[in-house]
Amino acid sequence: MPDNNRPELELIVSADGSHTLYVPALDEHYHSVNGAINESLHVFIQAGLKHCKKKNVSILEIGLGTGLNVLMTALNQEDRVINYHALEKYPIKGALVKQLNFGSNEAESHLLQKIHALPWQNNEILKPNFHLLKDEVDLNDVKLEAGYDLVYFDAFAPEKQGDMWNETIFQKIYDAMNPRGILTTYCAKGVVRRTMQDCGFTVERIPGPKGKREMLRATKPNG
Ligand SMILES: C[S@@+](CC[C@H](N)C(=O)[O-])C[C@H]1O[C@@H](n2cnc3c(N)ncnc32)[C@H](O)[C@@H]1O
Repeated sequence: MPDNNRPELELIVSADGSHTLYVPALDEHYHSVNGAINESLHVFIQAGLKHCKKKNVSILEIGLGTGLNVLMTALNQEDRVINYHALEKYPIKGALVKQLNFGSNEAESHLLQKIHALPWQNNEILKPNFHLLKDEVDLNDVKLEAGYDLVYFDAFAPEKQGDMWNETIFQKIYDAMNPRGILTTYCAKGVVRRTMQDCGFTVERIPGPKGKREMLRATKPNG
């Protein structure tokens, strides 16, 4: 990733009809080209949010990007109270945000726009019982406060952005999670699994979204 802010991005339609973004500088997409919404629902909602049994859930997302995972979480909130902390080093431009087709009706499209319209660096109410803190920051620099129940680890792939998948990063996240906290990622690489295990996580390989055989779910043991 070039370090000047806001790298060039191209809007792409993935296989389930939902948009994703392509980053030419990395030759990398924000989501699976096999379906952006499908991936978000599989990796973060089904394997993460629905697997977490807490009623009051504190979520950390690495990085916010298009806001798709916030939107899917909000649409699957049910009767939970959610505190969502999303980190993002390169916020995307408003003109691009307005084109994203993640909402399946007007209310959902409005909610997506609201996610992006809310100010950064402030804990805001997105909808009832849903607080969103958008944090424009580099994960490498941030000091995380403790207390996360669920982590959506949605960085670019290890071969594109290796500095996001090292032991320092996973140890920092592990230390900030509650016992029995869950981290999910689309990545299934053995080296990532072993790095997580070295930090103390118990790691499962579970079936991945369309186009990927497996993904990882890491749990912080109790005590
Ligand atoms: C694979 S994309 C996923 C984005 C998002 N979850 C979504 O659904 O659109 C990875 C995201 O991590 C962000 N990112 C890259 N390096 C980062 C860093 N050092 N700290 C925080 N976020 C970073 C990127 O800008 C991008 O938005």
